[in-house]
Amino acid sequence: LKAWTKVGDLTHELKGKEVLIRGRAQTMRAVGKNMAFIVVREKGFTVQCVVTAQPDVVSKQMVKFAAGLSRESIVDVHGVVSVPSIAIKGTTQQVEIQVSKLYCVDKAMPTLPINIEDASRSRLHLHPPYFVVEQFLLSEDFIEIHTPKLIAGSSEGGSAVFKLDYKGQPACLAQSPQLHKQMAICGDFGRVFEIGPVFRAEDSYTHRHLCEFTGLDIELEIRQHYTEVMDIVDRLFVTMFDHLNNKCSKDLEAVGRQYPFEPLKYLRKTLRLKFEEGVQMLKEAGVEIDPYGDLNTESERKLGQLVLEKYGTEFYILHRYPLAVRPFYTMPCFDDPKYSNSFDVFIRGEEIISGAQRVHAPELLAERAQACGIDVSTISTYIDSFRYGAPPHGGFGVGLERVVMLFCGLNNIRKTSLFPRDPLRIAP
Ligand code: 4AD
Repeated sequence: LKAWTKVGDLTHELKGKEVLIRGRAQTMRAVGKNMAFIVVREKGFTVQCVVTAQPDVVSKQMVKFAAGLSRESIVDVHGVVSVPSIAIKGTTQQVEIQVSKLYCVDKAMPTLPINIEDASRSRLHLHPPYFVVEQFLLSEDFIEIHTPKLIAGSSEGGSAVFKLDYKGQPACLAQSPQLHKQMAICGDFGRVFEIGPVFRAEDSYTHRHLCEFTGLDIELEIRQHYTEVMDIVDRLFVTMFDHLNNKCSKDLEAVGRQYPFEPLKYLRKTLRLKFEEGVQMLKEAGVEIDPYGDLNTESERKLGQLVLEKYGTEFYILHRYPLAVRPFYTMPCFDDPKYSNSFDVFIRGEEIISGAQRVHAPELLAERAQACGIDVSTISTYIDSFRYGAPPHGGFGVGLERVVMLFCGLNNIRKTSLFPRDPLRIAP
């Protein structure tokens, strides 16, 4: 038999069929000298394999060999699918394999070099559906770009950068593609996106901060109003959530078996709330917020609860943030410069996106940078790129690990990353 069957595809329909699978030997159990059970796991799916001694097919030595496999060894199992009369407990698949051949492809060490918590975490690793994001954005006329990760100055301001020596010049790892994606817009790219690593050196020991994460960055020309940027958020995320629910149900079930969660509640047209409305909702619930300050983690959570109760959604956009709490490149509101043409997006009360219209007039940009305490000389090439005429534009940045964490209701971002980087962890 040459065709491989995935463990996750083993169902009643295959009853009586010969199959060949490869996976890891999760548990072994002998019943006397003539029978052994092995639970084989592949990508989070498990199946019970029954090795029974039978003349000319399975020897007693083979039963002994099966029972003595070391845990997590990689095995090939050849056999016939059967359906037991009683329900099977402890495996994801409701069929068994009556084994005729068993090979150990690679023997695992008797003691695992990684702890079991790490092993189950990496099984859980659920890649954000990149291709759905790419397909959607390409169909909306976006061009994929790759911006440098070695840059001269910080892009988001502040000191949270990894500094390095660039052939004698001070440099750092990019905190976001922000400035370069905007320069691409100045170069008439129209609409651009990038999926790539983002580096943050901040000392955040929380459940939702990593020092390196995968960012999805988007930037586009605005024709009339910054809400055009929010329209993209809306369509992109509804497409992505629909895809996860409709096409990835097996993976989501596997995650849910380990860490149970409720499906995300979201609307066909994403709710948009103004910052002022959010402040008002919080006030009515007894939480006082500075109307020109930022929300803290606690008030964001609380507002998420209030929004769920009132509008029945766990995914929404909060826009028109106070200007004072946004980065220097954010466009002030035309009707009230205390506010800005900006927004954050939340899943289950936690931020996953921040976005805005950008200042595209070089004088105002320099003035805003100065007001935010930035040394204008360090960003002069950026400011100069707006001197040749720049279209009004805006965009946003998403942390993809956070999206997966919150979509799956996980309590820690490290569970979504195969090799998480945080202030205390740089290996493996
Ligand atoms: O809010 P941030 O810092 O915004 C920017 O980088 C802007 N340049 C985006 C824009 O186009 N205006 O980061 C964007 C998103 C956050 O909403 C969050 O989801 C994620 O990136 N993020 C992190 N994810 C994991 N670990 C961290 N330390 C993160 N910092 C930000």
